[in-house]
Amino acid sequence: MKNVIDSEHSQTIFSGVKPTGRPHIGNYFGAMRQFVKLQEENKNGENYFCIVDYHALNLIQNAEEMRHLSLDVAIDFLAIGIDPKKSVIFKQSDVSEHTELAWIFDTITTVPYLKRAHAYKDAMTKGGEENISVGLFNYPMLMAADILLYDTDIVPVGQDQKQHIEFARDTAEKFNRIFPTQDGSTLGGGVFKLPEAYIMKDVETVPGIDGQKMSKSYNNTISLFASDEEIEKSVLSIVTDSDGEVPQNVFAIHSLIKPEKELKKIYEENKGKYKVLKDILIEDLKNFIRPMRERRGEIAKDLDFVNKVLEEGKEKARAVASQKMEQVRRAIGVS
Ligand code: TYM
Repeated sequence: MKNVIDSEHSQTIFSGVKPTGRPHIGNYFGAMRQFVKLQEENKNGENYFCIVDYHALNLIQNAEEMRHLSLDVAIDFLAIGIDPKKSVIFKQSDVSEHTELAWIFDTITTVPYLKRAHAYKDAMTKGGEENISVGLFNYPMLMAADILLYDTDIVPVGQDQKQHIEFARDTAEKFNRIFPTQDGSTLGGGVFKLPEAYIMKDVETVPGIDGQKMSKSYNNTISLFASDEEIEKSVLSIVTDSDGEVPQNVFAIHSLIKPEKELKKIYEENKGKYKVLKDILIEDLKNFIRPMRERRGEIAKDLDFVNKVLEEGKEKARAVASQKMEQVRRAIGVS
């Protein structure tokens, strides 16, 4: 993977994960692994990794569950290698500027514009308008606020978030146009910087065990911290419709963890032997997942540490977000 960060200039990286359940290898390869890579490259810049609990509130409406799932994402972040000395790990709800800015964006955004959102359209096909909350409808504005509050340059995400980053860019441009700063002191005259999505082509949409996009809502995931038994069960249920020789879905998942060249040889030598190929994938996944799962287990034993990380993250994120909100308030005339 080539470097994304220009080491001469400090950059700001921002991304978020919804605390809606256990992360899967689609989340990891599509986005979370890049969080760690960028953190290492962006030595002089700032990295923010946010547990977007207010986004999750659209789905998780139980206090106990919300508390658990949010803490779980903090543990997941630490287990994959996000280092609190290099990155800010924090909860969205700890920085009230996110929701405050989302409201301001709501006032400059039209209903037809938000109706273009893929997530909204999906929800429309599944349940119809009467089942769509205002929170789900406005989701992209809260996400724009997350990103824009920190003068973000790069947003590592999977392909399914591309449109949301475009919405954030549009919203930044629109705000800058409607509310130019009088003193011209900020970012070429506009309050907000335009972020870029960072989507890795090879893993932009990681397929699930049925070949569709891996997603909690399709029930086709392999958990990132799965036990050996869970890995076996998931791999054995990979759907093996294929062109006859290479089981495509097995190969696609295998290629996440083994170089293509090595894989081609293995799949060539075991043409048509689906069980053998699945067994090899099981072993490879077990070896890949085990160290991360064990690290996660260790971190989960020290919740004081995890809470301290979140506490420090809250302070750091608040300091930056509150300054940005001051600029916003001045620009709109409420300061
Ligand atoms: P979420 O929590 O659904 O997913 C977290 C990240 O995982 C990626 N992802 C995938 N990538 C490739 N293949 C897949 N099958 C796959 N499934 C999930 C997602 O693209 C995402 O990057 N709206 C966001 C959370 C969010 C956010 C933000 C992200 C809120 N505010 C600000 C970036 C910046 C979401 O629902 O991600």
